[in-house]
Amino acid sequence: MKDTAMKRAVYACLSLLCLALVQPALAMDLQLTGKTALVTGSTGGIGYGIAKTLLHEGAQVIINGRTAESVAKAAASLKQATGKTPLTFAGDMSKAEDIERLAKTFPTVDILVNNVGRFIPREFSQSTDQDWYDSFDLNVMSGVRLSRFYLPGMKQRNWGRIIFISSESALQIPVESVQYGMTKAAEIAVARGLAESCAKTGVTVNSILPGPTLDSDDPRAAARFGDRPQAQVEEEFFKTRRPTSLIKRFARTEEVASLVAYVASPLSSATTGAALRVDGGVVKSAF
Ligand SMILES: NC(=O)c1ccc[n+]([C@@H]2O[C@H](COP(=O)([O-])OP(=O)(O)OC[C@H]3O[C@@H](n4cnc5c(N)ncnc54)[C@H](OP(=O)(O)O)[C@@H]3O)[C@@H](O)[C@H]2O)c1
Repeated sequence: MKDTAMKRAVYACLSLLCLALVQPALAMDLQLTGKTALVTGSTGGIGYGIAKTLLHEGAQVIINGRTAESVAKAAASLKQATGKTPLTFAGDMSKAEDIERLAKTFPTVDILVNNVGRFIPREFSQSTDQDWYDSFDLNVMSGVRLSRFYLPGMKQRNWGRIIFISSESALQIPVESVQYGMTKAAEIAVARGLAESCAKTGVTVNSILPGPTLDSDDPRAAARFGDRPQAQVEEEFFKTRRPTSLIKRFARTEEVASLVAYVASPLSSATTGAALRVDGGVVKSAF
């Protein structure tokens, strides 16, 4: 009798031990170790969040901003946050010559995140030709030029990820910046077209559509609130400007970065040609 009880107790302990050993193996590994990712416009905002998450996940990451000072500062802060030192490139992604220099400096990347983008708030009748060209050059042509350079290598190696950071504004064109909406819709079109060109390869191309997103640790973001507390600005914004939001708050940059990291991972191999939303439900549609 005593023997059986003892055996049961030993079996129970062994089962628990096995469960504890198996559990970590069941955790999702994004398999990004050894991959090199380039994230444009990543000294702040969503790009910085993406760079941080990819570094945490083991990828080597090239960050980018316009000045040597801003990239050095971001690299130091990423090192502090993740323990990993990113590679850096200072250059203006709206300029073809800077993109050429970037491609020469880093001729091979496995994951290209076309994140850089600018919102110029200008009512349509006030918008100039230059506003339209500037928005197009930075938001669309940076991704076009970089994809044109990196895609052939990805196809040759039969593996790669190109991710365009578009926006909910591609679907709900903001009346205060029609040119911005145009560029964000164009990015989805480019991504879909490139995905078509990658049929039967290990390369995927997708767009991610964030909704209103905030990096509350970024002092530039806080500066936009002036003297008012963030909670008050947030409540007003979602009441008056984005009433369809289901989360009724800004998404955090990390929440966007989590989806990007999954799409960048080998685990997402059947997701391509898609426009994926991380918009807090602000687009009033399931698709
Ligand atoms: N934030 C949102 O609510 C939201 C929502 C939907 C979609 N998006 C999209 O997400 C992307 C990132 O948005 P964000 O709000 O995070 O942007 P952000 O905070 O304005 O981005 C700033 C980053 O872009 C860099 N940058 C700006 N102009 C550049 C240029 N010409 N060349 C290279 N780098 C440049 C800045 O670097 P330096 O200052 O160091 O040069 C900094 O790293 C954009 O494509 C945007 O359209 C944003």
